[in-house]
Formats: sequence, structure tokens, C-alpha cells
Amino acid sequence: MSPFLLTRTLPEDATDAALRADVRAGLTGSPKTLPPKWFYDAHGSELFEEITALPEYYPTRAEREILLARAGEIAAASGARTLVELGSGSSEKTRYLIDALTGLHTYIPVDVSESALTLAGQALVAERPGLDVHALIADFTARLTLPDTPGPRLVAFLGGTIGNLLPAERAAFLASVRALLAPGDALLLGTDLVKDETVLVRAYDDAAGVTAAFNKNVLTVINRELEADFDPAAFDHVALWDTEREWIEMRLRSRTAQSVKIPGLDLAVDFAAGEELRTEVSAKFRQEGVRGELSAAGLDLARWWTDGEGRFALSLSIAR
Ligand SMILES: C[S@@+](CC[C@H](N)C(=O)[O-])C[C@H]1O[C@@H](n2cnc3c(N)ncnc32)[C@H](O)[C@@H]1O
Repeated sequence: MSPFLLTRTLPEDATDAALRADVRAGLTGSPKTLPPKWFYDAHGSELFEEITALPEYYPTRAEREILLARAGEIAAASGARTLVELGSGSSEKTRYLIDALTGLHTYIPVDVSESALTLAGQALVAERPGLDVHALIADFTARLTLPDTPGPRLVAFLGGTIGNLLPAERAAFLASVRALLAPGDALLLGTDLVKDETVLVRAYDDAAGVTAAFNKNVLTVINRELEADFDPAAFDHVALWDTEREWIEMRLRSRTAQSVKIPGLDLAVDFAAGEELRTEVSAKFRQEGVRGELSAAGLDLARWWTDGEGRFALSLSIAR
């Protein structure tokens, strides 16, 4: 079997420090916010996988349809020997790319979820003899140092995860992706597209309540890691569409006036009845916006594919 390496790029106490800093800043700010990366402990990653199979959650199916149809073109255009995937999760759709990239030497999945990386990496080395898999436990919003592997390099960022970054964060992120590429290397980017509000809101507020459980999982993570006493049942899951900013917001709305203790931070946080904590934004895109943001980072949009219903786009851009 080919090698599977799992490397933590940051010491574990750096993750703790980042969680502490994010929770303190986010819960003492106004309005209260938390960054979405803290959803993804092992249970959060499992819940996300359940979300991808929900009837209301079209992005995964739409992106898979495009990858299935276009993997050959993507492989031919990039000729990649190293595939880096940011926020790789289960790497499930990535298999189409890996199979199409005939000269692929190394696959580098990058994620904050150690459990998702381990499950996906071990399955991949068993399924694809000859492929090196070097997984990195890392925050893709921080500066990444990649192992030295043969080029050309293709960076994939799938699932519409780029929409979870705020506009200024996206600009910094795309610039940091460009810094990982040599001229001629490529970025494959999945972006969910602006569409009917009802379809969008349903995708983030499913009938079975899986997205609600995923949203509340961040409270369970804070309870476990910082000994807090959040009662997830005392919050309601909220998903709403912001027409002006063209993004979905997920929030947790406090059912009552309550005070939550977070001994790990020596902090008590008061919530008014009905007060909302923003846990995620998920921006939706248009082609011209994506082209502009890529170009500002030194990436030229070369190909743009959508699924048959025009719900989701995959773009291939080339580093200048
Ligand atoms: C929306 S899911 C998408 C998963 C997969 N790419 C897909 O298309 O189904 C986001 C993934 O990014 C990871 N993630 C979220 N924020 C991250 C961060 N700041 N750094 C690294 N990984 C992150 C999560 O653990 C999760 O696996």
C-alpha cells in the first residue's frame, strides 16, 4: 500500500489558543458571532456528510454532476502531478479528479478535522495503490507550508466553502492560494450561485433538522473544550437570506434571557431573549464577481462550468 502521512502543521495548543481567542472575541462582540470552522469536530464532520445527502441540499449533487462531466477536461488543462485540496472533508467528490489525473503523484488534503482526514486518507491509499496521500491538519485561512512534491500543482477548493469567508477574508485567502502556485498552476473553485430564496433557505433549514443539529454542534464543542454550560435546546436554528449581500446566514437564536458560563475563559455571556449569534455566512456568487475576485488575486478565469440546472459553478483559473 502507498504511504499515508498525517501531519499537524500547528501544535495542538495553537488550536486551543485559536478557539479561545475566537470564542472570547465572538461572544463579547456585538452582534455575537463565531467562525464556522469550529463546527467540525468528529461529530460535526459526520453531520456535514449527512447534510450532503439531504434532499434539500443541492450543492453537493450539483458539484458532483459537474465533476463527473468535466474531470477529464480539468485533468487535461492542469496536467497536475500534485493535487492540494483545501477543506477536503470526506474527499468523496475528489475521487473523480484523482481518477482523471493520470500523472498524479501526491494528493494533499488539508482540513481542520483530523477525523475526516484520517477516514478519507486511509480509504484513499487502500483504493488507489501508487498514490501518495499526505494529509495536513491545518487552517486554510492561515499561511500554509506544503510538502515539496512535483508540479504542476492543482489546488481544489470545493463544496462552495469559499462562501463561508467574508469578502475581505476571501481576498486574503485567494492571495494566499496564489502564493502556493507557480505561474501556470491552477485553482479549481466550487461556488454556489445566486438563486431563488426559497431554494437557498431550504438548503440550510432542512425538514429533518440535520442542519439545525450541525449548527448547534458548535455549542457542544465549546462546552467540551472550554467547560461551558450552553444548553443547545435553549437555542433555535435560524437560516435567512440577505438579499443585499447575497449570502445565507446561519444563526442561533436564544429562546430566553440566559447567562452562559464559560469557565475555560473565565467568562459569563448574557443572551437577551431572541438575541441571535451568527455562526456562518454562506455567500452565493455570480460569474463576473468570481472572475473579478480571482483576477485581483493574480488568477485568470479560464473555464466556467455549471450543472444542468445552473445552480452551482466550478471554475478553473490559472496563476499569472
Ligand atoms: C462545507 S465543508 C466541505 C467539505 C468538502 N470539500 C465537500 O465539498 O463536501 C467544509 C470543510 O472545510 C473544513 N474547514 C472549515 N473551515 C476550515 C479552515 N479554516 N481550515 C481548514 N479546514 C476548514 C471543514 O472541516 C469541512 O471538512
